[in-house]
Amino acid sequence: MNDITAGTLRLPTRIHFGYGSRAQLPEVLRGHGRRVLAIVDPFLTRSPVLAEIRTALRAGGLDVEVHSDIEPELPTASLDTAAEFARTHRPDAILAIGGGSTLDAAKLVGLLVTHGGPLRRYYGENLVPGPTLPVVAMPTTAGTGSEVTPVAVVSDPGHDMKVGISSPHLVPAAAIVDPLLTLGAPRAVTAHAGIDALVHAVESYTAADPDRAWDATLPVFTGRNAFTDVIALRAVELLGAALPVAVGDPDDRQARENVALGSLLAGIAFGATGTHLSHALQYPIGAVTGTPHGLGTGLLLPHVLQVCLTDAGTVPRIAAVGAALGVAPSTVEEQARGAIRAVARLNRAIGVPASLAEIGVTRDQLPRLAELAARATRLVAIAPVPAPPTVLLDILDQAYTGHLAEGNYR
Ligand SMILES: NC(=O)c1ccc[n+]([C@@H]2O[C@H](COP(=O)([O-])OP(=O)(O)OC[C@H]3O[C@@H](n4cnc5c(N)ncnc54)[C@H](O)[C@@H]3O)[C@@H](O)[C@H]2O)c1
Ligand SMILES: [Fe+2]
Repeated sequence: MNDITAGTLRLPTRIHFGYGSRAQLPEVLRGHGRRVLAIVDPFLTRSPVLAEIRTALRAGGLDVEVHSDIEPELPTASLDTAAEFARTHRPDAILAIGGGSTLDAAKLVGLLVTHGGPLRRYYGENLVPGPTLPVVAMPTTAGTGSEVTPVAVVSDPGHDMKVGISSPHLVPAAAIVDPLLTLGAPRAVTAHAGIDALVHAVESYTAADPDRAWDATLPVFTGRNAFTDVIALRAVELLGAALPVAVGDPDDRQARENVALGSLLAGIAFGATGTHLSHALQYPIGAVTGTPHGLGTGLLLPHVLQVCLTDAGTVPRIAAVGAALGVAPSTVEEQARGAIRAVARLNRAIGVPASLAEIGVTRDQLPRLAELAARATRLVAIAPVPAPPTVLLDILDQAYTGHLAEGNYR
């Protein structure tokens, strides 16, 4: 395994993790001013946890206005409405409490209020001109890692697929990850958000290690780097063991804690390195099937890793993922193949479908899906193997039937 001698991390200035860490909120927010706009996931509006948080904020001398009109998939029009609401309230900071969609919404409202619309000015990388209204992020899923990452994703009716805005200025000012907030999450939300976190960790650990040009503007996502390896592998270990338990018993506090920590660590890792082919391929698949992001990235990961095995330098990395997933030591090649089987088993255990056919993709759609995925050049470039449309199509062919090259893993 080659050594990495350079690294970049851009993170919130404060990250608190643990049961009860939500008690830090008033103090963290007071550091930014008195007026707070809380952008809250609709599921929370009648929850006692939100009432408790509002009471604590008021007792802490903060003036809080709540906006909870967040539409699934974040259509751009709903963000304009939220930004209008924010301009009226003139907050000093935004508090975001919810799933990844809500956290992303808050990051983009902060952007729109500070730098103005339309949002499409910022699509892509490094187009946000400067700091935005500070966002304090509290996730209720585990998760997207959005509480620590420099990216947010929206649905624009003018585009075939969801589009991303990536900038170091979108990293939240603070993240508070209290696993208590994930305790009530339904089984499917737990499974899809959790497997996406595992994909973040694995794609971060297997990302390319490109040559760095320190004199140029740094890309938002740098590829594999000196800080992230240890963080990504720990995330794999935590998620691999705890995710099936959390999906099987949504009230298991220990499993929820480990999944929440795994998701946070995966976010820290991929927020620096970027993710690659499972993500590039999921965007068009999500658009044609309407299936959740994590369901798609999880389904695709074994097939993406199978292709990554063709790079000799990546085989030991996939073997290390296997070790973190509990695959017994063996030859490096065997442990790497074991990693792929372990991810496939994990998918099965938590109810992620095994094939694209099962989620309604038809075989004749595959070439178009490969073509669309190839347009996600930022993601494709971070893969450890060259991935022209022919390779993307190979991955889709395998994922279509759900058969790995070595045989059906069912
Ligand atoms: N910014 C990033 O770094 C990043 C990374 C990956 C994905 N994403 C984006 O995040 C979104 C997915 O986020 P997600 O997986 O957290 O799902 P989500 O935010 O879309 O939420 C899914 C559903 O679960 C509900 N929910 C959330 N937490 C709950 C809880 N504790 N109890 C009960 N219901 C709850 C929500 O109301 C919603 O109905 C996608 O838009 C994806 O593109 C962003
Ligand atoms: Fe993801």
